[in-house]
Amino acid sequence: MPNSPAPNSSAPNASASDSSASPVLQPVTIGDLTLANRIVMAPLTRSRSDEQGVPPAFAADYYGQRADAGLIITEATNISAQARGYAMTPGIWSDAQVAAWRPIVDAVHRRGGLIFLQLWHTGRISHPDLHDGALPVAPSAIKAEGQAFTNDGMKDFVTPRALETDEIPAIVEDYRRAATQAKAAGFDGVEVHAANNYLLEQFIRDSTNQRTDRYGGSIENRLRFPLDAVRAVVDVWGPGRVGIRISPATTEPGKTPLDGSVMQTYGAFVDALSAIGLLYVHDIEGVTQQTRDVPDDVDFHALRKRFSGAYIANNQYTLDLAEKTLAEGDADLFSFGRPFLANPDLVARLRTGAPLAEAPKQYWYGGGAVGYSDWPGMDGQIVVTGDER
Ligand SMILES: Cc1cc2nc3c(=O)[nH]c(=O)nc-3n(C[C@H](O)[C@H](O)[C@H](O)COP(=O)(O)O)c2cc1C
Repeated sequence: MPNSPAPNSSAPNASASDSSASPVLQPVTIGDLTLANRIVMAPLTRSRSDEQGVPPAFAADYYGQRADAGLIITEATNISAQARGYAMTPGIWSDAQVAAWRPIVDAVHRRGGLIFLQLWHTGRISHPDLHDGALPVAPSAIKAEGQAFTNDGMKDFVTPRALETDEIPAIVEDYRRAATQAKAAGFDGVEVHAANNYLLEQFIRDSTNQRTDRYGGSIENRLRFPLDAVRAVVDVWGPGRVGIRISPATTEPGKTPLDGSVMQTYGAFVDALSAIGLLYVHDIEGVTQQTRDVPDDVDFHALRKRFSGAYIANNQYTLDLAEKTLAEGDADLFSFGRPFLANPDLVARLRTGAPLAEAPKQYWYGGGAVGYSDWPGMDGQIVVTGDER
């Protein structure tokens, strides 16, 4: 049990209201997947892996406890050693990592859930400490503002090394291999992380991509590497088991400026993703965790209309906002991030109107099972999925 749980975490709720009939909480089919409800657990980095990027055994409890989400997207997971940008984050490139993910996936499946792995390369949002002193790589040698999370605490970002043209196809192959490894671990699909200003989005935006080769300049050139990466992953999984995360209006981390023509650039990206037939686009509407306000020329509904697959909306959603958005036809699924931290049975709480617990920030990143896999459900019980085997 965390030392300082939110005051209401297991208190009886006098004002509980029955939302069990909410359309957001009914089963839905997207592609060939039937989801128990329209609530998705958003990817949440928790920094509990070891120095080899192997997730801990108690992550099976954490993810298994949250299996009543219609779909779980894992925390961002490094596709290669080069991809790392934060201490204690998991990977999927080694066999030891695959072996550690397998019981996590099994725990979710035993409890009737579905789980996709989020594939990550951080690019310039990294630090030499994570690369034996070598510089992080990026489309261009432009430094992010702020600090990286290293094993020795927060350290200033450095100016990254611009990738050579002939290094980029090798990273595409890293995506392909990571996708294959995810399949070996038993995942139901994968989400390509093209959001939050990590490597793929650094290539998309003209603010971070000032290359003059075939991967920079025109929109077509800036989208080439992200689309090559998506196609490599689709080769492994088929388009129906691949989603993508985008964040056209997010400036963090790194105080990364937006693209100069957001709708033109991301419109072309979404059109290409739609033509590939991806399962879903997962869109962070606004600035992650901060605001849903966006510049006047950014129109998420217009982007959504250009995509023929499912649309997962994210950022500060509540059940009320999800119901309104669904009724207006502006999204199919809704991902919740922070509410899943301290509410393993979030969907059940939304159904009953029970109060939501809040995880103190000290438990968000780093540490062990405390404040991670020991949050009780509404019944006061902590589910230990290992006991169910
Ligand atoms: C602790 C924490 C870790 C996060 N890690 C990731 C991540 O690994 N990948 C990602 O795409 N977004 C990550 N995010 C962003 C969330 O997925 C989500 O976009 C954000 O929390 C806004 O949704 P919310 O208002 O429902 O919390 C993280 C957010 C938090 C709070």
